[in-house]
Amino acid sequence: MAASEPSSGQRVLVTGGAGYIGSHTCLELLQAGHSVTVLDNLCNSSPESLKRVESLAGRALELVQGDIRDFDLLRRLLGSPGGKQPAFDAVVHFAGLKAVGESVAQPLAYFDNNVAGTVCLLRAMAEAAVKTLVFSSSATVYGDPASVPISEDFSRSATNPYGRSKLVIEDILEDLYRSDPAWCIARLRYFNPGGAHVSGLIGEDPQGTPNNLMPYVSQVAIGQRECLQVFGGDYPTPDGTGVRDYIHVVDLANGHLAALRALRQDDGQSGRFLTVNLGTGVGVSVLDLVKAFERASGRSVPCRVVARRAGDVAACYANPALAKTLLGWQAQRNLADMCADAWRWQSQNPQGYRQSAAQAHSDGATR
Ligand code: NAD
Ligand code: WQD
Repeated sequence: MAASEPSSGQRVLVTGGAGYIGSHTCLELLQAGHSVTVLDNLCNSSPESLKRVESLAGRALELVQGDIRDFDLLRRLLGSPGGKQPAFDAVVHFAGLKAVGESVAQPLAYFDNNVAGTVCLLRAMAEAAVKTLVFSSSATVYGDPASVPISEDFSRSATNPYGRSKLVIEDILEDLYRSDPAWCIARLRYFNPGGAHVSGLIGEDPQGTPNNLMPYVSQVAIGQRECLQVFGGDYPTPDGTGVRDYIHVVDLANGHLAALRALRQDDGQSGRFLTVNLGTGVGVSVLDLVKAFERASGRSVPCRVVARRAGDVAACYANPALAKTLLGWQAQRNLADMCADAWRWQSQNPQGYRQSAAQAHSDGATR
């Protein structure tokens, strides 16, 4: 079945569903006929993203504002043990902190939120017998890869506390599955997500200075920032700048639906444990991305090559073959699509979701 085709409706709990990847996934889930409950503490997102998801889908979802570390809340949400039917068929788990630099400065906050938060979620799921989980892992678990493209069997290592939190969670999930093979678990290793929904209504809304390339380039193109600093021009890559695998966020979202379907294939028999790269397999340099963005936006993106950023690797892109075999999924959108969609989102929402919040406030004040 193609990744975007509807399948029979499941009741899905989406942690971190108000965030960038989560909101796009909620939309695809609703459009495919699933029912969606989001659990998000809104520490890095706005509920406005979900209002827009509902209006695009023409269907409602439920937002529970709360923390994945709140065991009592999870217990109430997932359904009581031993008693009635579990409240959900599956959990898609995005909630987490993701800023690499911040994780170096505040490692305990990252281990608490990401690792302890996931353990709390898993305990509540086990108790409620909700044993299907799709987890947001990352290509960061490959550390500095020995070669590219990267397959799932490459060795793993962490270069910072954020990456270590993903590695530890991956290991916890493996131990959990070994202890109870009724679990159905997919560990999805995302490469570099970018772009936005084609409507321009939902997209990435970074707080403060963006850490990632794509939102930074968007903000330079629109004139909010003067110049892109290109971190390193002397890498052993075709043009000397870092090479990554940029994957359209809607393709990524559809990868989660494909994973849910794949986990369901063995429903009622035994569990499943999948570890899959979600990438395009295409390596794109910083300068390639800048040129593509200039073409898509019709704006110029001034750049200056500066020193390498500590911890960056020269090249990181996926071998995406296993996702096709196991999930029937492959990326459908290319770099030009990603830049066009990111630009539509940026130009229609120059202040991200903050603009809507301010607008709603001033509308309320004048009423
Ligand atoms: P995001 O920050 O936009 O979304 C994460 C969401 O989780 C936010 O809405 C935040 O409010 C919520 N959240 C954080 N901690 C929480 C907690 N304790 N309880 C409840 N909600 C909480 O990030 P994103 O880019 O959408 O990333 C989603 C997931 O994918 C993360 O786990 C991230 O590590 C992973 N990932 C992201 C990228 C990327 O480059 N964006 C790459 C690989 C993996
Ligand atoms: C991409 C390329 C930079 C900004 C990070 C995390 C990883 C994952 C995805 C969550 C690199 C260059 C960037 C800038 C630049 N996140 N760059 N100027 O570092 O590949 O991955 O996000 O799991 O864990 O580490 O992504 O977008 O920061 O950088 O030249 O202002 O752009 O050097 O070559 P990265 P990125």
